[in-house]
Amino acid sequence: MKPILHIQNLNVSVANRLLINNLGFDVKAEKVTALVGGSGSGKTTIGLSILQLLNPALKIQSGKIILSGVNLLSLAEHQMRLVRGKDIGMVFQEPLHAFNPLFQIGFQIDEVLRYHTQLDHPTRIKRMQELLDLVGLPDPERILRSYPHQLSGGMRQRAMIAQAIAAGPKLLIADEPTSSLDVTLQAKIMELFKKLQKELGLSMLLITHDLAMAQYMADDIVVLSQGEVVEQGACGHIMNFPKDDYTKKLIEATL
Ligand SMILES: Nc1ncnc2c1ncn2[C@@H]1O[C@H](COP(=O)(O)OP(=O)(O)OP(=O)(O)O)[C@@H](O)[C@H]1O
Ligand SMILES: [Mg+2]
Repeated sequence: MKPILHIQNLNVSVANRLLINNLGFDVKAEKVTALVGGSGSGKTTIGLSILQLLNPALKIQSGKIILSGVNLLSLAEHQMRLVRGKDIGMVFQEPLHAFNPLFQIGFQIDEVLRYHTQLDHPTRIKRMQELLDLVGLPDPERILRSYPHQLSGGMRQRAMIAQAIAAGPKLLIADEPTSSLDVTLQAKIMELFKKLQKELGLSMLLITHDLAMAQYMADDIVVLSQGEVVEQGACGHIMNFPKDDYTKKLIEATL
């Protein structure tokens, strides 16, 4: 089966310095690929390259980013706008920044549905209530009326996940989706991702520095060091038989 996402020979630079060097990996349909590596290894840069939301100082020099057969790097900005939120859902590290403080949560989730679907208002309300139920937020009517600051960090992260999956994306990109949460909440959010992944058959790119989280969630692992893939393969294989010294160090640090 063809992968949902196929990245090939991707090079990204800033001021003539290569940040991402000849990157290649796949996300298979209905599977989770974890992108792991230390701070500054280029994980977020890769996520933002896929979405084409890079800081203008960063340039994609060459490569292909193919989502369901379409090279995203050949699309114009107005076409990418249809991809973001519709074909690719995004969950970022800090949900307070992802939601606009001035608007109610319901309005902001509804934005995705208004922009990317033809659903009428009552159907969208019903859909949002189902989504909130799906991500484990009780009392959907209250949540939809709330402003971001009125929710706890864990609730905001759940609401953001609801927003990310609202339009039924082919691929979900989650960049350190639990780092802003305490350890108990981290585990709960990972459980939620696992449940959603199974129930909805989500294909997911999980970006994390946490190998334990990658091991819990991922089918495949891509290990990144200084913008280069040092090792990739099936999660069980990499965890049990790491070849690269950097991978071995990461695993030792996790145990
Ligand atoms: N706007 C920028 N200008 C210059 N260098 C940048 C810029 N953005 C990122 N970089 C550099 O790109 C490299 C990769 O950064 P990136 O944020 O992708 O790493 P990361 O793996 O996501 O790290 P973390 O785990 O800390 O989130 C770093 O060396 C960083 O300094
Ligand atoms: Mg990052």
